[in-house]
Amino acid sequence: MNKEVVFISGASRGIGTAIAESFAQLGHTVIGTSRSEFKFENKQDNLIPLALDIADRSSINNCVEYLKDNNLKPSILINNAGITSDQLFLRMRDEEWDNVIATNLTGTFNLTKALIKNMIKNRYGRIINISSVSGLMGNPGQVNYSSAKAGLSGFTKSLAKEVGSRGITVNSVAPGFIETDMTSYLEGDAKEKLINEIPLKRLGSANDIADLVVFLASNDASYITGQTISVDGGLFMY
Ligand SMILES: NC(=O)c1ccc[n+]([C@@H]2O[C@H](COP(=O)([O-])OP(=O)(O)OC[C@H]3O[C@@H](n4cnc5c(N)ncnc54)[C@H](OP(=O)(O)O)[C@@H]3O)[C@@H](O)[C@H]2O)c1
Repeated sequence: MNKEVVFISGASRGIGTAIAESFAQLGHTVIGTSRSEFKFENKQDNLIPLALDIADRSSINNCVEYLKDNNLKPSILINNAGITSDQLFLRMRDEEWDNVIATNLTGTFNLTKALIKNMIKNRYGRIINISSVSGLMGNPGQVNYSSAKAGLSGFTKSLAKEVGSRGITVNSVAPGFIETDMTSYLEGDAKEKLINEIPLKRLGSANDIADLVVFLASNDASYITGQTISVDGGLFMY
């Protein structure tokens, strides 16, 4: 694999950090972002932290300027940043709907739109969206999040059809329940019950997701596009 510039949203912790470190270990230059200033614990020179709010278009514009000023042209984009704001539908407030759609779905639109032009110009690119099992099978309390993540599958398919002829692949990875801050609310009997429903009898690790993302970005995956691939221990089977 050539040494590329990789851009990962939401890399300050969890799945995003694991993806960033995996690409950095392979020698790529990695720009990892989050809303707040942060530092990678692993202080490799090729891991660059950057503050960016993907739901805020002025923040995206600042980021594009930073990339231009530093002659960084990402050819691999991982749309990983995501939030949950769970609530039963009848109690769901407008802001809970709006914020989740703004980050998980519109944020992916905003960032992809900003970075895809260079990929089209170079006739090469990899775009990988981090979706969720919740967008495939639904989950009570997550009408907002499931809608946003299901939207990513449509986004992935349509964009894959538009840019395939330019050498760009677009895929989604749908994690099941992965041990990160996002799932830290799971404990006790509820966690045990969930694990029992997973054929592989464990929650996933952030590295389980990073391994597939690195593969999808590699030359070995050059004939895969428009797909949503689950990494969920078998929790949801099509
Ligand atoms: N963990 C799971 O079980 C699971 C399952 C299915 C899917 N996923 C998906 O996997 C992705 C990563 O999840 P995770 O578990 O690693 O989550 P996490 O530990 O909560 O980390 C989320 C990351 O996204 C960043 N972020 C949130 N909103 C942002 C915004 N508007 N702009 C830029 N960055 C933003 C966060 O940093 P700041 O808060 O500092 O901005 C953080 O770096 C998400 O898309 C999530 O929906 C996770």
